[in-house]
Amino acid sequence: MDFVEQLKSSVDIVKVVGDYVRLRKLGNSYKGLCPFHNERTPSFNVHSVQQYYKCFGCGKGGDLIKFVMEIENVPFYEALTMLAERNGIPMPKRSDYSDPESKLRESLFSAQEIALKHFRQNLHSNNGTHARSYLKNRGLDGALAAEFSLGLSTRSGNALCCLLQQQGFSADQIVESGLALRRDDGGLYDRFRGRLMFPIHNESGKVIGFGGRALEPGDEPKYLNSPATKLYDKSRTLYNLHRARQAARNTDRIVLVEGYMDVIGVWAAGVKEVVATCGTALTNSQVRIMRKYSGRIVLNFDPDTAGVNATEKSIQMLLEENMHIRIVELPEGLDPDEYVQKHGAASYQEQLDRAGNYFFWLADRARSRFDLNVAEGRIAALQFLLPSIQKIPDKMERAAVVSDVAAYLKLDAGLLLEQFRKAATNREQIRLDKPRYDLPSAEKMLVHALVQSAQARRQILEELAALPHFQQLSGKHIFESILAIERSGVPFRYGELEARLTEEENTLMAKLAFADDTEEENIIVKQAMACLEELKQRASRERIEALKTEIAAVERSGDMARALALMQELKRLQARRSDY
Ligand code: GTP
Ligand code: MN
Repeated sequence: MDFVEQLKSSVDIVKVVGDYVRLRKLGNSYKGLCPFHNERTPSFNVHSVQQYYKCFGCGKGGDLIKFVMEIENVPFYEALTMLAERNGIPMPKRSDYSDPESKLRESLFSAQEIALKHFRQNLHSNNGTHARSYLKNRGLDGALAAEFSLGLSTRSGNALCCLLQQQGFSADQIVESGLALRRDDGGLYDRFRGRLMFPIHNESGKVIGFGGRALEPGDEPKYLNSPATKLYDKSRTLYNLHRARQAARNTDRIVLVEGYMDVIGVWAAGVKEVVATCGTALTNSQVRIMRKYSGRIVLNFDPDTAGVNATEKSIQMLLEENMHIRIVELPEGLDPDEYVQKHGAASYQEQLDRAGNYFFWLADRARSRFDLNVAEGRIAALQFLLPSIQKIPDKMERAAVVSDVAAYLKLDAGLLLEQFRKAATNREQIRLDKPRYDLPSAEKMLVHALVQSAQARRQILEELAALPHFQQLSGKHIFESILAIERSGVPFRYGELEARLTEEENTLMAKLAFADDTEEENIIVKQAMACLEELKQRASRERIEALKTEIAAVERSGDMARALALMQELKRLQARRSDY
């Protein structure tokens, strides 16, 4: 058996998904909140017999390996490795699976590992004295530096490049790793020089890039990060997530800060569920990644203007994804790291626990920005607040926030409510306008049976395809696709079918496949046979109607021979119908 097949048959998708999503059993399938989009009522399904997942909401679906690829954001080969490792299944030799793409990624990973080791050695060498005392001054002891694998890049031009070349990396690979740049004359030089190095890991803990902090006052920029590479996409990366995710699950919250040093400071204060964006505005991919671990975010950005703007933007982004948001405002203009240094761990934890709901923070913004004593100021404040409040999906909660905000700012609650009603009607309108693809119930039941049962496929498919009005069936394309898989001789799998169907067909299919299917196979087959009969009857009924019309026309034209022949066919059909 092929390794992929072996893996799929020995690892249960229900168990794998269950590590990420709380699932509830319903017959042969399991339901939960989709980890790939934002929802409040479960439309994410996992089928234990088909070993397949599908979300009716966002349409994502696939097999075990696809799930791991999507949720961990890794390519095929890495998903295989992860599954094999987690389930104690030995992987076949890498060469069996390495397409050029996986080989390149593997080499990029090992370049990051080599760089990590090199940077750490530098920090502990004689050249690292200055950097070590810098860390000490910032309250970072050796154990903490080791925990975060901090390092130092050499000041001279190309130490890391040389090391990588010695280890057999080609110039192209080194440039692709983001660790070096090419000079005009074609030579390479290190991207990071004389910087304190913070390795950046992916969700599963592999190094994918670095952030480097300047150590000398004149060095610009203050922070230099790895560029986008095949491994590192800053819009999908959160610094420290691989360490924070367990604590985030346990405490059901995530503390989001702006900088690497903030993460380390907060972590050192005993708050392990802390992550940072890597110097970018928060993206919705990052929010979705966080939401796998907790839906409750505590934002603790810098109190400077940039930090305040980032907080405002992040609130919008987090609300889009239904996150529960609280905001920490540290006094004295301190960032989290500085606050912990100055006031200690206990005091910081207290600040976290005291953090207020985001809309009080927004209301304070509005108050400081607009003059609420005049009408224009109140309207401007309203316009500033509306978008965030509109995004609260729960009606009751929204109404409560509206009246709280109105009271807090002494605004007219009636005016606020009117605005929300308008926005809500617009949203519903959009939902109603969507066209839907559906099948007559007999065809639906057939599709259901054909997917569920091999026996149904054997007994029904060919006969179905031979129906005279097969081409007119609404589900023709689905039936043809199932037939094509059967005829191709590959084992029938839901994923195989999905690949052949259109998006709207797939949405419908998922609903059918995950419908209550606790019946036994012979009952499913019996029902399907009955549906086939119904389709046949419908065919003959339609043929009878057509014959009648045609006979009338032929009689009018005077072609009696033809009319007689048609009448005989009609009689035959009618006689057969009375047999049913
Ligand atoms: P310290 O000054 O070392 O305490 O760092 P900080 O974490 O307080 O830094 P700051 O608030 O200035 O920046 C927060 C985060 O933004 C940093 O951790 C970086 O990820 C990013 N950042 C800051 N300055 C730069 C820069 O000049 N270039 C880039 N690309 N990112 C930066
Ligand atoms: Mn700082």
